[in-house]
Amino acid sequence: MNADLLVDLDQYRANLAALRTYAPSALQMAVVKANAYGHGMVPMARAARQGGADWLGVATPAEALELRAAGDRGPLLCWLAVPGAPFAELIDADVEVTASGVDQLQAIAAAGDRPRVQLKVDTGLSRNGAFGPQWDDLVAAAARLQEAGSIEVTGIWSHFASADEPENPSNDHQESVFRAAVDQLAAAGVDPGLRHLANSAAAVTRPSSHFDLVRMGIAAYGIDPDPAVHVPEVRPVLTARTVLANVKRVPAGASVSYGWRWTADRETTLGLVPVGYGEGIHRTASNRAEVGFDGNRVPVRGTICMDQLVVDLGDQPARIGDPVTVFGPGDDGEPTAQDWADAAGTIAYEIVTRLAGRWSRTYRGER
Ligand SMILES: Cc1ncc(COP(=O)(O)O)c(C=O)c1O
Repeated sequence: MNADLLVDLDQYRANLAALRTYAPSALQMAVVKANAYGHGMVPMARAARQGGADWLGVATPAEALELRAAGDRGPLLCWLAVPGAPFAELIDADVEVTASGVDQLQAIAAAGDRPRVQLKVDTGLSRNGAFGPQWDDLVAAAARLQEAGSIEVTGIWSHFASADEPENPSNDHQESVFRAAVDQLAAAGVDPGLRHLANSAAAVTRPSSHFDLVRMGIAAYGIDPDPAVHVPEVRPVLTARTVLANVKRVPAGASVSYGWRWTADRETTLGLVPVGYGEGIHRTASNRAEVGFDGNRVPVRGTICMDQLVVDLGDQPARIGDPVTVFGPGDDGEPTAQDWADAAGTIAYEIVTRLAGRWSRTYRGER
């Protein structure tokens, strides 16, 4: 093992079960886009189904088709398509697609025999979805195409901008725009089907936003959506671990790594950890982050490189091959993804989702 991500599927299933208690009357969608936030899409999708997730959600058509190719057959929504997207293939594979505008809805309608489609309304995030007059047009087109038997509308949905700030007034605003959009669709003669708005943060803080389904991403991986939105029932699923590739005693005055951005002020032991930004480790955490070693945290010294980083082991006994936990649940003194996010100046989502490159993945609890 050079560097390995240990993923605890039992914990993932347990997290999904615990999260159900927040939204007991809503269906649960496990969001597994972006390689399941770095955890590995196909094994996480399988575990999510075993854990009782009613739906899976992905962003791109390629992700949806990869899940189908891997044998997944359950309800699956995808929501980020560009012109030329393989709608026919998606529809054929029983993937529900999302229309964010009239042109997209027409392309979907033309791609299959009465395809099932969900409509996305932009309630204020100003990202995807139809906004204002575009939404009016999308509703009219959906009513026309459904009446003609060319599509079946199966859902309406939107996404919050600031669910991780429960007190932010934008949440009330977006929810009321969403309710009006649902009413507008119904008034046009289209049964809205599944209504959904909540991500993890909204699912745990905002029951009024649960509607028919909640989309669970980050919290299912055991990570709080924000330090201010703590979800005590879940635990991190992933541990990023490796071993020391080198150990050396250096004198006071020794400088470390590119740019010599850290210099030892006393004799110390340096450990070489064989992961770097090639593995998605944030270089902005240079000289700031810590890793777990022998039940303690030890500091990263100097610039994080492409393949490696250096830690200061002080006077602790250490040998090449000794285990290092870059981050994990925090049970054995190691930092968490949130600690790395704080050190790197980003969010914990990015810490796990960026994991790439030369990590292997080991799944515990595979069934
Ligand atoms: C449309 C949509 N729904 C749900 C989620 C899941 O969000 P979270 O990871 O905050 O639960 C995401 C992820 O960003 C998303 O893009």
